[in-house]
Amino acid sequence: MADLDDLRDGVNFGLGQKVENQSFYLKGCDHLDWGIKDRLSRIFRKESGRTVMLAFDHGFIMGPTSGLERIDLNILPLAEHADCLMATRGIIRASVPPTYNKPICLRSDAGTTILTDLNDNVVVDVQDAVRMNASAMAVMLAIGDEKTEAKTVANLTHAVDMGQKFGVPVMGVTAVGKDMARDARYFGLASRVCAENGANIVKTYYCEGFSNVVAACPVPIVIAGGKKLPELDALDLCYKAINDGASGVDMGRNVFQSEDPIAMIQAVAGVVHEGLTPQQGFEMFQDLKK
Ligand code: R5P
Repeated sequence: MADLDDLRDGVNFGLGQKVENQSFYLKGCDHLDWGIKDRLSRIFRKESGRTVMLAFDHGFIMGPTSGLERIDLNILPLAEHADCLMATRGIIRASVPPTYNKPICLRSDAGTTILTDLNDNVVVDVQDAVRMNASAMAVMLAIGDEKTEAKTVANLTHAVDMGQKFGVPVMGVTAVGKDMARDARYFGLASRVCAENGANIVKTYYCEGFSNVVAACPVPIVIAGGKKLPELDALDLCYKAINDGASGVDMGRNVFQSEDPIAMIQAVAGVVHEGLTPQQGFEMFQDLKK
């Protein structure tokens, strides 16, 4: 029964105080739905507008590669230092405790492995992404690959359709085509195609002229790290990408294959969020290294 006897009339209506419109802090995201923004704000820190995503989805194409043999031993100790975990549903369900309460970027396409031709993929059911409370779905786009380009564009489009329906952002993951130069022209084209097809985040690679890639992509870009580099070089890569306008990293091998992954992910976060130079990040890495 509602209480009607002490119903207090409102008195403080803030008359004369304008209601401010609230702009969202990520590039190109102002007009997205509330649920998508809520999920994006779990991935990208409000203070810096950036993210350190830890990518460990490699097993779905290459099996137990170095640094990913045991997710419980190799990856879970890094989770507290990451803003978001990027992996497949199988690994997350089997090895990542839901009590971590970390945003998940769910690898949402699956198909061929390194044993055959890559990128002949299908998209997982968006309802499973929602069931897992995923903060984003990551889907590969293989631009320039004659055999799989159209299929992967269709996959991305389908993921975006479903993501819009359920309020889940989609990250377009630009594959590196075998026959394409890894330059700003290629990554600029691939990143823009992701955004044009509705991706809310784009993951690509750093290259010479990267500021043009970022400028022409209307949504936040994060970079993959690629093959393992010496720690200082990997931090330099992060620094240059951030300097050129990247909104963070989605990094795997340069973290989990580091001689000290826990120190490395903290140094990467120092460069991404705190503006450390590569040298300062490297000093942090050495200080934290066991
Ligand atoms: C991309 O499709 C892969 O699945 C990885 O997530 C990505 O390459 C990031 O990892 P890494 O920094 O090792 O390149």
